[in-house]
Amino acid sequence: MKVLVCGGAGYIGSNMTAMLASQGYNPVVFDNFCKGHRQAVKEFEVVEGDTGDFDLLVKVLKKKKIDAVMHFAGFIEVKESVEKPLEYYRNNVCNTQVLLSAMEKTGVKKFVFSSSAAVYGMPEVVPITEDSPKKPINPYGQTKLTVEDRCHFLSEAGKLNYAALRYFNAAGAGTNCTLGEDHKPESHLIPLVIAAAMGKREDIKIFGTDYPTPDGTCVRDYIHIEDLCSAHLLALEKLEKHSELIYNLGNGKGHSIRQVIETVKKVSGKNFKVTETARREGDPPVLTADASKAIKELGWKTKYPELEKIVETAWKWHNKYPNGYAE
Ligand code: UFG
Repeated sequence: MKVLVCGGAGYIGSNMTAMLASQGYNPVVFDNFCKGHRQAVKEFEVVEGDTGDFDLLVKVLKKKKIDAVMHFAGFIEVKESVEKPLEYYRNNVCNTQVLLSAMEKTGVKKFVFSSSAAVYGMPEVVPITEDSPKKPINPYGQTKLTVEDRCHFLSEAGKLNYAALRYFNAAGAGTNCTLGEDHKPESHLIPLVIAAAMGKREDIKIFGTDYPTPDGTCVRDYIHIEDLCSAHLLALEKLEKHSELIYNLGNGKGHSIRQVIETVKKVSGKNFKVTETARREGDPPVLTADASKAIKELGWKTKYPELEKIVETAWKWHNKYPNGYAE
């Protein structure tokens, strides 16, 4: 099966590309390299292009005889989305619509979409099931939900078989710790704590210690990047016979910020300064997944359910690439 991986040079996309290839699929990376890393996809076929480029997409889908599309080319920063909502709508919604139109034009029906726990906003009940209320509280989450709605109606019209995969906190490094997380600027907790352990930052700041959680800090559900990717493969296979699949992807287990910091200290053997600061706007206290639907329907099994293992892979990658990927 030939799979176009949009955003295939990014953190999740590059891990997905490597896994597709290792499992006998034929991936073609499609990336405009505004965030992606050439070094992460140097062994694979790459088309440089933008998901807003309808003509190019039609050409690639036809010429390369693409069977399915996986879409990771979204902007992912909640804070940035609040500051630049239109950019998020343009890239995450308008460009995805262009991509879906190109698929419709060329008759490519299978679509795996990278959605987010952000569609749930501030959940009233955790762990979160897929039928929990969808009430995004920022433009980022809203763009993901808007695309899900587009996909729903396209599938109703018989034009699309899609899987919307709602990620919790993707973490760790895949493919023997060779493909890791390198966002510029970095805003995610685990890479930032690791940077503190490596002496690249003066400290790690905890954003809020007065949450209604056991230790007062926010609780998240960290899921290893390879486990995340393996669910995509299972979903892709299932699209053969299903037109709409929606799954939460997480371990179902929460870890507080303090627990993440302690785990990094343990794995790295380093001590570093921890500074307690004010809350970051828009952070729900607890986000944990009820992923039993994916486990049951996809037969999904995670290989790295333990935070310590996840952090170990991230630690190894950051030590291999202390300055991130070469640009
Ligand atoms: N945090 C800190 N200090 C830091 C960085 C983060 O205390 O320096 C805290 C955050 O406030 C949050 C937790 O660590 O409570 C996790 O933060 P991340 O930024 O790593 O992850 P988020 O849970 O905010 O975001 C993740 C994805 C987003 C997605 C969101 C869905 O990275 O892309 O889940 O809710 F939108």
